[in-house]
Amino acid sequence: MYLEIKNLSVHYDTAQVLNKVNLSVEKGELVSLVGPNGAGKTTLLRTISGLVNWEKETLKGTKLGRITIDGEVIFDGERIDTTRAHKIAAKGLVLCPERGKPFREMTIKENLMAGSYLYRDKTDIKQNLEKVYSLFPVLKERETQISGTISGGERTMLAIGRALMSQARLMLVDEPSTGLSPLLRDELFKRLEEIHGQGLTILLVEQDVGYAFEIATRNYVISNGHIVGEGTAKELLADEMIRKAYLGL
Ligand SMILES: Nc1ncnc2c1ncn2[C@@H]1O[C@H](COP(=O)(O)OP(=O)(O)OP(=O)(O)O)[C@@H](O)[C@H]1O
Ligand SMILES: [Mg+2]
Repeated sequence: MYLEIKNLSVHYDTAQVLNKVNLSVEKGELVSLVGPNGAGKTTLLRTISGLVNWEKETLKGTKLGRITIDGEVIFDGERIDTTRAHKIAAKGLVLCPERGKPFREMTIKENLMAGSYLYRDKTDIKQNLEKVYSLFPVLKERETQISGTISGGERTMLAIGRALMSQARLMLVDEPSTGLSPLLRDELFKRLEEIHGQGLTILLVEQDVGYAFEIATRNYVISNGHIVGEGTAKELLADEMIRKAYLGL
């Protein structure tokens, strides 16, 4: 397994947000994780990326720092559950947060270039930038625009673009459909499918089950911090309990 999560639990102060989560992603897969608001999806991605650990260390001694993390996260054969967030990113495990989180005072192009800060090979960087621009032409059109002023959809594309600039090997994408018009949603999911088709492994968190199931090879359903279902779209949709109780279909 490329990414393996074993019995992962996260408590924030009094609330348990993840409860013995087991989830895995094989190299080359596009796995989706769906579930209602507050189920723990973002927390799972942030835990994998080392951000919950960072929060725990940084806020130690304060009420917000009362976090416990149990279980294992293994990426490419290596345990990373106590690895620092920037080192995890440097291994190629890259998070695209919901609605992106660009450096607001930098231009689109500067944000994209920031994604490649680990690379020195100028031809690689140039090729990656061209690839990102061909996937998302609007980023090229607006490359000199300050990122604090771009739209939500453009921020999402920028976050994915930045991950591609960093030569991500496993991309964690959090709710890329948030705030997008149906047209832009269609477009974005096509691009994700294309990126996956080019060989990138993706773990996609998405509330829109229709979109997620359409492009994913395998899916997990999470509710209340528990994984309550796992399988292909066909398998999950054939399970009436899952369909009614968790997918609202
Ligand atoms: N720092 C925190 N302290 C306390 N509780 C938190 C913290 N972060 C998240 N939570 C709680 O954990 C639960 C899961 O949150 P999370 O953001 O992971 O859900 P989600 O599945 O991503 O939801 P959504 O679909 O709305 O994005 C929520 O009840 C949330 O309020
Ligand atoms: Mg979320």
